[in-house]
Amino acid sequence: MTGAPTIPLAVPDLRGAEAEYLTRCVATNWVSSAGPDVDAFERALAAACDVEHAIATVNGSAALHLALVVAGVGPGDLVVVPEFTFAATANAVIQAGAKPLFVDVTEESWTLDPTLLDRAFSQFGDRIGAVVPVHALGHPADMDPLMAICRSHEVPVIEDAAGAIGARYRRAPAGGLGDAAMLSFNGNKTLTTGGGGALLTNRPDWAARARSLSTQARDGAAYQYREIGFNYRMPNVNAALGLAQMERLDEMVAAKRTIAARYDAAFVDAPGIEPMPRADWADSACWLYSVRCATRDSANEMIGALTEARIAARTCWEALSSQAPYIDTHSVLNGVSETLSGTVVSVPCSSSLTEADQDRVVAAVLSWAEAAERLPA
Ligand SMILES: Cc1ncc(COP(=O)(O)O)c(C=O)c1O
Repeated sequence: MTGAPTIPLAVPDLRGAEAEYLTRCVATNWVSSAGPDVDAFERALAAACDVEHAIATVNGSAALHLALVVAGVGPGDLVVVPEFTFAATANAVIQAGAKPLFVDVTEESWTLDPTLLDRAFSQFGDRIGAVVPVHALGHPADMDPLMAICRSHEVPVIEDAAGAIGARYRRAPAGGLGDAAMLSFNGNKTLTTGGGGALLTNRPDWAARARSLSTQARDGAAYQYREIGFNYRMPNVNAALGLAQMERLDEMVAAKRTIAARYDAAFVDAPGIEPMPRADWADSACWLYSVRCATRDSANEMIGALTEARIAARTCWEALSSQAPYIDTHSVLNGVSETLSGTVVSVPCSSSLTEADQDRVVAAVLSWAEAAERLPA
């Protein structure tokens, strides 16, 4: 394999009208945080996710922070977030002045466990101000039971759909399943704007306040303000990229699913690894394809073998509640996130990944798994 280029993990797929639309931004001088592409991108997002309102933001973290603020989350509140997620989910809660309440995930989907959510409500009751299920790595959370529990307590649900654009839960698009949702368009996502995000909601009052808060809550053109706001609006130049990406969203998600299906078939019987689970309610967007190894050591050995073969691979999220920044928080755990920590390995799955490169990934994973099996325990 010497000399072969390294296969990256998840890179932008810019084979559509991106360059043309960016050139148009430069030619028309629409490059900053307003412009026709922002409006068009928001309309395209709302249509794709089947919601009334989309507000494009500088990144997904900003969208989640905005969503929590417009949902009324603030000091004194606990907000349920999964124990197995990226830190940004919990950090947005803290930035909104509240505290994360970490609730564990299921083996079946690596997403928020409805049984444990019920237990969290029994333990913490009306201190819970919102619940943020994460569609882990593009795989939807089990929204029906989660929504039923939250509705019975009259608590809003904000989907963290960071990597889940294109995913469906029982046929309904991710992003339109709760009271609001956030998307991320970071460079490693299926759909990228370089950096960017969006808040989605069907609630006109939340959308209007989020729009206002995202531009310093300025009251019209004058320097007068309704409340303390933020500078969170997406620039037109990023939206231009997004608009071009939206034209190929279905194609890119389909490519991701094809790659995931190939990997699943290749890895299902491989010794020592398990493909990530797929629940029957989910049509995953297959954002970041990952396999689970038996131990941290075997995950690191697999990454070492792939690196040697010039294939990018890395471990996924670590359980959050025991980490230093979150030590002073409550949690309701079942041990699943702990066993996923350091044992889940993501492998190359860009929508532009060629079949030849997919074959290289499969061959390297299988060759490591078979060699590892032959080693004495
Ligand atoms: C689950 C999850 N939530 C939130 C975010 C934050 O999104 P952004 O990087 O656009 O701020 C990410 C980013 O990868 C994520 O994976």
